[in-house]
Amino acid sequence: MTAMIKTVTIYGEEGMRSLGAALASKLGAGDAVFLRGEMGMGKSVLARAIARAKGVTETMPSPSFTILQSYEAKLPVRHFDLYRLEDPAEFYEAGLDEEMGPEALSLVEWPEMADFDPEPRLDIYLSRGACDDIREADIETVGMSGAREEELFSALAEEYE
Ligand SMILES: Nc1ncnc2c1ncn2[C@@H]1O[C@H](COP(=O)(O)OP(=O)(O)OP(=O)(O)O)[C@@H](O)[C@H]1O
Ligand SMILES: [Mg+2]
Repeated sequence: MTAMIKTVTIYGEEGMRSLGAALASKLGAGDAVFLRGEMGMGKSVLARAIARAKGVTETMPSPSFTILQSYEAKLPVRHFDLYRLEDPAEFYEAGLDEEMGPEALSLVEWPEMADFDPEPRLDIYLSRGACDDIREADIETVGMSGAREEELFSALAEEYE
C-alpha cells in the first residue's frame, strides 16, 4: 500500500477555502476526508469549503451537537463531527458507518472518536503555523490507488509549491 504526504502552509480562512476548492476538484462519491487537529484549527472551515465547492449552497451549521449534517446536492455530502460521541461503539449503533456510503462524499471531524478506518481516504492534519491565522496542513492518502494519488496531488501542485 502506498501513501503520499504533502505539507502545505495555509494563510487565513481565505487560504483554507482555496485548499478546499483544490481538493474538492478531485473528490467525489465514496470518498472520505478525515479532518484532524485540535479545536480551532480550521477543520470546519475546510469541511465547509469542500462542501461549497461541491455545490452545497444551504447554510452549514456545525454538526457538533447532531454529529451528522447531510446535504443533498448533486453529490450528496455528509459532514460528521464525532467530538461528542460517548464511545466508539456509538458510531456503529447509530448506523453512522452506513451513512458513509459509496454514494456520498464524507467529511469527518474528530474521526479518532470512532474506531472506523475506511479506505481509500484522505487524512488532513491541521496545526497552528507561525502566526494566529496561519495553519499547516499535512495531507496524506490512505489506501488510495497510485493513479488517484497522482491526480489529487497534481491538483495541489497547481496551488502550492
Ligand atoms: N488559516 C486559517 N484557516 C482556517 N481557520 C483559520 C485560519 N486562521 C484563522 N482561522 C480561524 O480559526 C478558527 C477555525 O475554526 P473551526 O471551527 O474551523 O475549527 P475546528 O478545527 O473545526 O474546531 P472544533 O474542533 O472545535 O470543531 C476560525 O475562527 C477561523 O476564523
Ligand atoms: Mg469544527
